[in-house]
Amino acid sequence: MKKTSLISVVAIAAVSMLALAGCSSTPTATATAAQRACVILPDADSGTRWESGDRPALDKALTAAGYTTDIQNAQKDANKYATIADAQLAKGCGVMLLVDFQGAAVTVAAKAKKAGVPVIAYDRPIDGADYYVSFDNTVVGAMEGQAVLDGLKAAGKDPKTASIVYGSGDPTDGNAKMFLDGALSVLDAAGAKAAFTMKGTWDGPTAGTEFEQAFTALKGKVDAVLAPNDNNAAAIIAILDKNNLKVPVSGQDASVAGLQNVLLGKQTATVYKPFTIEATAASKLAIDLLKGNKPTEAKSNNGVPFLALSPILIKAGDVQQVVAAGDAKASDICTADVMAACTANGVK
Ligand code: BGC
Repeated sequence: MKKTSLISVVAIAAVSMLALAGCSSTPTATATAAQRACVILPDADSGTRWESGDRPALDKALTAAGYTTDIQNAQKDANKYATIADAQLAKGCGVMLLVDFQGAAVTVAAKAKKAGVPVIAYDRPIDGADYYVSFDNTVVGAMEGQAVLDGLKAAGKDPKTASIVYGSGDPTDGNAKMFLDGALSVLDAAGAKAAFTMKGTWDGPTAGTEFEQAFTALKGKVDAVLAPNDNNAAAIIAILDKNNLKVPVSGQDASVAGLQNVLLGKQTATVYKPFTIEATAASKLAIDLLKGNKPTEAKSNNGVPFLALSPILIKAGDVQQVVAAGDAKASDICTADVMAACTANGVK
């Protein structure tokens, strides 16, 4: 026993001496790790935001401050999420920014804590994270509920008697309940009820299948759809299109497809959550942590410092606002079939 510990002490001493002599890569590796921001995104197809919005925005903000980034995507695979995190932590991270995927980030947050690496829950809440940066998700949901009501009003329909299909996001994403609660607060107050409640998913094709079942069960009598994001909305609109129906549909993300549907009158509105603002806020927090400072900008929410940003409701006449902010390109939105609507709404 004694012998082994002596050997270890000698071994450690030898390593330290080598390090002091500049012959070991250990100190450099440690220094590098402290400069590294490790990021895990959940998937590439529940919306375009993660890969085309958040990834470049986070990368830009962190590298501009002189840090290196390791940004990876779990491709909707919880096992892959864990493998990526293990490899990142083994290489070393000065901070982790995690977008949860079906609870996989909870284990990662615990491992990071053990390794002394601070964790920022990015956009989606994570049990055990040190910070949470997101939008005010209840407000996002309330805006979605309001979009449904506004659409019904414009169609001259009474929310109390309208046949509304209620959809929601993946129930394993803590945001999904906040979105739904926010929407229900507005819909309940107007006396609206669900004619059919879908199970809830972030997967577009699954949302399409769920809506098809709702449509069949309601014998095609659908007056409006509460869709949790633009990706779900697009799948739902494809089925409405097939049945020659145009009814109020909500959404969020101000994605190109969502903005096109809004301009075409197939989606009442989209909730715009500028990813540049979210990524910049999270990066600022991450940089503070990388510098070893204790950030103070986040307010506590259930014990976790929470930075809640403000979402913006976008109707057809507001699309140009997203373009002007640089978060969508008119050349992507205004394709041949959308061109007339772009012109009518001043999108350029
Ligand atoms: C995000 C949404 C996104 C959805 C699907 C949610 O947690 O807040 O912006 O559309 O996940 O990826």
